[in-house]
Amino acid sequence: MIHYRHLEPSNLDGFTRLDRSDYSSTWCRMKDGLLIQEKRVFRHPGFSQSQWDGIIKEWTDKLSRGEMLLISAFDDETPIGVAGLDINQRYGCDNLMYNFGPLWISKEYRGRGIGKRLFMMVKEEAEILDVSGLYISATPVPKTVDFYIRMGCQLLSNPDLQLFAEEPEDIHMYLNLPKSVHRSC
Ligand SMILES: CC(C)(COP(=O)(O)OP(=O)(O)OC[C@H]1O[C@@H](n2cnc3c(N)ncnc32)[C@H](O)[C@@H]1OP(=O)(O)O)[C@@H](O)C(=O)NCCC(=O)NCCS
Repeated sequence: MIHYRHLEPSNLDGFTRLDRSDYSSTWCRMKDGLLIQEKRVFRHPGFSQSQWDGIIKEWTDKLSRGEMLLISAFDDETPIGVAGLDINQRYGCDNLMYNFGPLWISKEYRGRGIGKRLFMMVKEEAEILDVSGLYISATPVPKTVDFYIRMGCQLLSNPDLQLFAEEPEDIHMYLNLPKSVHRSC
């Protein structure tokens, strides 16, 4: 039975069992304003124990300071998916977007609607905050980019300079929140 709940700083156990690994024989890339695919191997081996230690410390600190929203999916008590939102800083050319992420579904649980459910839960919370959109820096794996397009996200013609510098090979996207009249600028 899959269930969903908000994460608290004191309740971040078991994430080392979440398998973030991924493989793709193609990558997405922006060329002349268009999204193209090229043959190139993408391989993420999953996070090591020390990488998880760093991630959990960062989440603990940010949750404690109220700078982040995190929702997780659990199978019984095992975390099998997580989605978050950085609510500390606004991004984009008009400074009106919160940065969405992470979004990781454990490998054996992908394709069952869990990513969509987590994405929608974060989106619903963002709708009552004072922002007009979500900023998405998507891993350039076609399956991941297709997922965000399916969720209604659009390509950003002018990525945020800071976020682009952090992840220049990502596909930078945004989602307009319903209340807003925001357009990618
Ligand atoms: C990308 C990811 C989060 C998607 O989560 P998921 O649980 O597998 O996706 P879901 O099963 O919820 O799919 C939701 C929708 O997207 C669609 N979708 C999912 N993968 C798709 C694909 N490869 N092509 C087209 N549509 C796709 C589904 O058909 C579904 O559509 P529906 O609303 O019509 O039913 C997950 O695959 C993942 O964790 N990947 C590895 C980590 C990663 O890249 N994270 C993102 C970092 S930015």
